[in-house]
Amino acid sequence: MSNDPTDADARLRDLRGLRQTRRFTEDPVTDDVIARILDIARWTGSAGNSQPWEFIIVRDRAMLEQLCGIGPSAQFIGKAPLVIAVVLAGANPRSEAYDEGRVSERIMLAAQALGLGSGTAWWGNEEFAAQAQELLGVPPEKAMLSCVALGYPQPVQRQAKVGLGRRPLSELVFSGTYGQPWQPASR
Ligand SMILES: Cc1cc2nc3c(=O)[nH]c(=O)nc-3n(C[C@H](O)[C@H](O)[C@H](O)COP(=O)(O)O)c2cc1C
Repeated sequence: MSNDPTDADARLRDLRGLRQTRRFTEDPVTDDVIARILDIARWTGSAGNSQPWEFIIVRDRAMLEQLCGIGPSAQFIGKAPLVIAVVLAGANPRSEAYDEGRVSERIMLAAQALGLGSGTAWWGNEEFAAQAQELLGVPPEKAMLSCVALGYPQPVQRQAKVGLGRRPLSELVFSGTYGQPWQPASR
């Protein structure tokens, strides 16, 4: 990795700028692009290097429309060019939840590097997740809770009904023990 501070600034700007994409253009996403993204994803770290993930690439429009109808949060995937459903081994739900977050973010970051937008969608509760899992033929001993939609982003996005800002560091970060303010030394 380069040590050039200009590169660091650009990388940090990209990391900070990663947003949830919910509206996509109709431009096709090639298998080559998907393969590049998944090749990055498979190198994500996981608990004990267990790599508890498998991926299902779903492009079929009728299937996407069925998946988007399950629960209230996944509606936007109905119009996405594709989703990558994240299947977990189902052996260690606690560590796999962490691994799922990491690998999903890695998919989103790789997509960003290739000029694509991405959005994570959760099927919300056990009942919805089980419906989605059955629809995609995932064995019941595994777990499938979410997917990442991918495509080229429309310039105007639909935002969630939740706030978009972020809490300031002064509210989030303590020094030494919980509750002690952190006052960073200025450069
Ligand atoms: C664990 C998790 C689950 C999410 N599930 C959904 C979802 O089901 N549908 C959706 O539209 N956005 C979903 N999001 C996206 C969040 O709403 C979004 O990240 C948040 O509102 C901040 O917006 P930003 O990512 O554009 O900055 C999810 C994000 C995370 C981390």
